[in-house]
Amino acid sequence: MIEIKSLSQTFNTSTVLKDISFTINHGEYVALLGPSGAGKSTLMNILGLLQNIQYGDYWLDGQHTNKLNNNQKANIRNKKIGFIFQQYHLLSELSVYENIKLPWQYTSEHDHTHLDELVTSLGIVHLLKKKPTQLSGGEQQRVAIARSLINNPTMILADEPTGALDEKNGINVMSLLKKHRANKTLLVVTHNQSIAEKCDRIIMLRDGSIV
Ligand SMILES: Nc1ncnc2c1ncn2[C@@H]1O[C@H](COP(=O)(O)OP(=O)(O)O)[C@@H](O)[C@H]1O
Ligand SMILES: [Mg+2]
Repeated sequence: MIEIKSLSQTFNTSTVLKDISFTINHGEYVALLGPSGAGKSTLMNILGLLQNIQYGDYWLDGQHTNKLNNNQKANIRNKKIGFIFQQYHLLSELSVYENIKLPWQYTSEHDHTHLDELVTSLGIVHLLKKKPTQLSGGEQQRVAIARSLINNPTMILADEPTGALDEKNGINVMSLLKKHRANKTLLVVTHNQSIAEKCDRIIMLRDGSIV
């Protein structure tokens, strides 16, 4: 469960998020909708413990995250949070298989059966030995989805996951995300109204405020 209370965030002199409060229950499928520059990525980075909160409070599953040190945050990220980005963020020098296993560097439990099931259901078994640069955008995003799910996180944060894809691949990626979201919280950043309408709930962000 995500609880954000009176969150404000500034860069230099400009206020990017303005006194935001909301709750997302475990298992909800929520769209974060808003125009470019609205503060969506900043908010996602805070929720993913990638960026420190300046003003306000953030509880994740009842844990007050404000005071956690970097090590504790990294631990929570590895166990609980799967990230998917618009530009995939795959490492080009590693194979697809190595990319998917990257989050295992930081955990002791490695569920190979889960990995096999993931790559099968995402249709990327035949790509495992390739390098990311040899893949299409849609294939790269499917690899990124596998990587995000490898540690069986309780929440998935997807920042414009279809932003770099054509419509067909975008629909495919969204349906794969939906298929794999069982028992997980899924928060999807989008500026696409039709993607947002498929979610259980829409949080609308404009100029740093929820509207
Ligand atoms: N690291 C940063 N330094 C300075 N300004 C930033 C930084 N990151 C984001 N911003 C600014 O914060 C605002 C919101 O950005 P962002 O969260 O990326 O919005 P969105 O994802 O909705 O497009 C923009 O005006 C952007 O220029
Ligand atoms: Mg963004």
